[in-house]
Amino acid sequence: MLHNGYNFQTTPFYTMSPQSLYMRPDLSVIIPTYNEEENIQETIQKISHILRLTSTPFEIIIVDDSSTDKTQLIVTDLILRKYPVVLLTRTKDPGLSQSVMTGIEKARGSVIVCTDADLSHDVTLIPQIYNEIKNNNTDIVIGSRYMKGGGIKDWPLKRRVISWGATFLSRILFPQITDPVSGFFGIKRDLVIHTPSIQPRGYKILFEFLGKCRWHSIKELPYVFTNRKLGNSKLKTTTMIDFIKQLINISLFPGHAWGELRKMACFAAVGITGIAVNMISLVLLKNYLPLLGASFIAIELSIISNFTINDAWTFKEINPGTWLHRMLSFNAVSVGAMVINMVVLAILTTFGVWYVAANLVGILLGFAWNFIGNRRTTWRV
Ligand code: GDD
Ligand code: MN
Repeated sequence: MLHNGYNFQTTPFYTMSPQSLYMRPDLSVIIPTYNEEENIQETIQKISHILRLTSTPFEIIIVDDSSTDKTQLIVTDLILRKYPVVLLTRTKDPGLSQSVMTGIEKARGSVIVCTDADLSHDVTLIPQIYNEIKNNNTDIVIGSRYMKGGGIKDWPLKRRVISWGATFLSRILFPQITDPVSGFFGIKRDLVIHTPSIQPRGYKILFEFLGKCRWHSIKELPYVFTNRKLGNSKLKTTTMIDFIKQLINISLFPGHAWGELRKMACFAAVGITGIAVNMISLVLLKNYLPLLGASFIAIELSIISNFTINDAWTFKEINPGTWLHRMLSFNAVSVGAMVINMVVLAILTTFGVWYVAANLVGILLGFAWNFIGNRRTTWRV
C-alpha cells in the first residue's frame, strides 16, 4: 500500500508533482478511479496531450478509492514523469460521487470537468467544455449521448435499458436537458462549493448538481459514448437503488426540479376540474341532446376549460403564438390522450384486467401524454 496503512480519516492522501505547483491551474479534470490499471495511463496521457495543445493551465485529479490493483502505482509513475496530475487516495466511504466531491473540494481550478477513467467519454471535447464555461459564462456544460450528434457504441442491451430508464426518470424533472445523468460534464467550482445541501451518493453526481446548485445557464454538447474495452463496470444493484433515493430527494428539494413538479401538480389539478366540467355538462346537456352528442360537447367543454386554466395559471409566464393557436394545439394533443386512454382500456380489459383499474392506467398514461405533449407543442418549453 502506498500510504503505509495510515488512516487519513477525511483528508485524502496527496501525491503530486512539484511541476504542478508552478502555475495555478484554472481547469481541474476530475477522474474517480477504482481498479483501472488497464485504462488509467492512456486516459491521463490522452487528456494531457489534448490540453497541452491549448494554453489553459490544468491539473488532472485522480480520486482513487484505494484500488487493489496497480492503478496508484501507474498514476504515481506518471506524476514522476511530470504529468500535471494529483493523486488523492481515499480510505473511507468509497463511492463514485463521494470521490468526485473530494476532488472538487481539493481542486485548484475555477472550472471543473468530470470524466471516467475508462475512455468511454470523448475527452477531445474537454477544451470546448472549458471554453464554454470560461468565455461564455455557462454554469454547467454536459456531454450528451442523447442529443442530435450523440450516441452510444457497443453497450449491451441491458445497460442501454438501465440507462434509458434512468434518463427517462431524470428528464421528468429536467425536460429541457437531454442527458441529466451523464458522467461527462463541466461545472463552475464555486457553484458546487457554495451548495451545502449536496448529498453525494451513487453514480449520478451531475443529477445532484442539477437539482441542488443555483445554476442559470446550461449547454449540452453531443458525443458518442464508447463502452470500455478493458476492465469492468462497477455499476451494482445498490447503485440503482441509490438513484431512486436520489430521485425522490431531488424531487422534494426546493431547487430547479421544483418548478417542473409545480407545473405537473397544477396540470393534474386542472385535469381534475376538467372531469367535473365534463360530468356537469353531460348531465345538463343530455336533457336536450342524444347521449353521444352530449358527451362530445361535454368533452370539448372540458378541454376548453382545461386549456384556459392551464394557459392562465400552469404556464402563465409562457405564451408562444396566438391564444387561438395554442388552444387548437391543446385540442389536438388532448385528442391523442383520449385515444391513448381508450386503446389502453381496450387492451388491458382483453387481458382480463378489471375495467376500473384498466381505465386508471389509461388515464395516467393519457395524463403523461397530455402533459409532455402540451408542454412541448402548445407552450413549447
Ligand atoms: N473513486 C471511485 N470509487 N471511483 C469509482 C467507483 C468508486 O466506488 N466506482 C466506479 N468508479 C470509477 C471507475 O473507475 C470509472 O473511472 C468511473 O468511476 C465510471 O465507472 P464505471 O463503472 O465504468 O461506470 P459506467 O460506465 O457503468 O457508467 C458511467 O457512465 C454513465 C454514462 O455517462 C458513469 O460515469 C455514470 O455516472 C454515467 O451515468
Ligand atoms: Mn464506464
